Amino acid sequence: MLFQTTEAHEALRAKVRAFAEKEVKPHAFRMDQANEFPTEAVKKLGELGLMGIPYPTEYGGAGLDVLSYAIAVEELSRVDGGTGVILSAHVSLGSWPIFAFGTEEQKQKYLVPLAKGEKIGAFGLTEPNAGSDAGGTETTAIDKGDHYLLNGGKIFITNAPKADIYVVFAVTTPDIGTRGISAFIVEKGWEGFTFGDHYDKMGIRSSSTAELIFNDVKVPKENLLGKEGQGFKIAMATLDGGRIGIASQALGIAQGAYESALEYAKERVQFGKPIGFQQAISFKLADMATKLRCARMLVYSAAELKEAHVPYSMESAMAKMYASDIALEVTNDAVQIFGGTGFLKGMDVERMYRDAKITTIYEGTNEIQRVVIASQLLGKPPK
Ligand code: CAA
Repeated sequence: MLFQTTEAHEALRAKVRAFAEKEVKPHAFRMDQANEFPTEAVKKLGELGLMGIPYPTEYGGAGLDVLSYAIAVEELSRVDGGTGVILSAHVSLGSWPIFAFGTEEQKQKYLVPLAKGEKIGAFGLTEPNAGSDAGGTETTAIDKGDHYLLNGGKIFITNAPKADIYVVFAVTTPDIGTRGISAFIVEKGWEGFTFGDHYDKMGIRSSSTAELIFNDVKVPKENLLGKEGQGFKIAMATLDGGRIGIASQALGIAQGAYESALEYAKERVQFGKPIGFQQAISFKLADMATKLRCARMLVYSAAELKEAHVPYSMESAMAKMYASDIALEVTNDAVQIFGGTGFLKGMDVERMYRDAKITTIYEGTNEIQRVVIASQLLGKPPK
């Protein structure tokens, strides 16, 4: 465990930061207010090789490591949490299951354009009756010989309806629980596959989020991902990695808010000196910096474990849980340091405070992260 980045990681950080400052930050408030997807920026992320950052070059990726991916999500989120999650959902949730479980044909057809950034990916797991209890999936895929017939729907799907390629989970064998769930690759544009309205969210408003609706969608047999009945495990394994992305997003949002607050604390004068030199504010800044350092170590070490192909479910859950919890605390403190000014629309810290909240909820609520962590500590309960 190195707990430290290399020169190459820091060069990548500088590259992504320069891009984020120039191409994303100037538009972040407008995109937040208008619920506007950063189409141009996402296209440029593809051109920079970031949309396939951890995938091998032979599949159109950049061939970099998981830590590089975490740094890229962190740096985008430092200026706009919405743009950060677009990359995270695309790389971790839309592309990774195809990389890890796809056939060579599936990888050539779907992973290559995803990794090149020519297509956007998404992940369809959550349903009205299957949120934290993902095993309660009700969408069905009935075997019809040469195809499956997909019926049902998904809610809260990040990157929908912008995404082109969806990894979707559906029941192929009813009444046997999680072992009856299978994964499929579904393309936008197929007959019977439509979208609900774009959600009007509290935060991460530059990212798009919509419902998926499946009405007798014919999914070719060759689009089954992995084996029949393997879907739940594919979903869980995918979320292990996805949680590193959300942890990085939370870390980046908190870092952005902290930097703004630090700068302001050096400038804003009250009682004859900058407020940063008043103990009430300096102690807050000290706590914020300490929490960020702890979170960064958890996130980067989880990324190192994934890269090393050793079990990392618990560590990614810890990273996601801790980074998102402190993101709420740090953004709250940042607004507090700005005082009334931080409560105004147009202030970065106001947007970051709203953006931080979702990181404690999606890709498994922080209560579910504790379930995952505790189950690793304790094993199965006695019968
Ligand atoms: N990797 C591989 N397999 C796993 C696994 C993992 N990490 N975790 C569990 N499994 C396997 C188990 O070994 C078990 O296998 P067997 O059938 O062979 O015994 C099987 O999966 C079922 O496991 P559990 O009994 O533990 O399953 P459960 O029904 O109790 O659920 C849970 C466990 C952790 C609560 C799970 O339902 C969960 O993670 N819920 C949260 C769902 C979630 O995170 N949703 C996020 C949606 S995506 C999103 O939010 C994206 C976005 O917007 C950006």
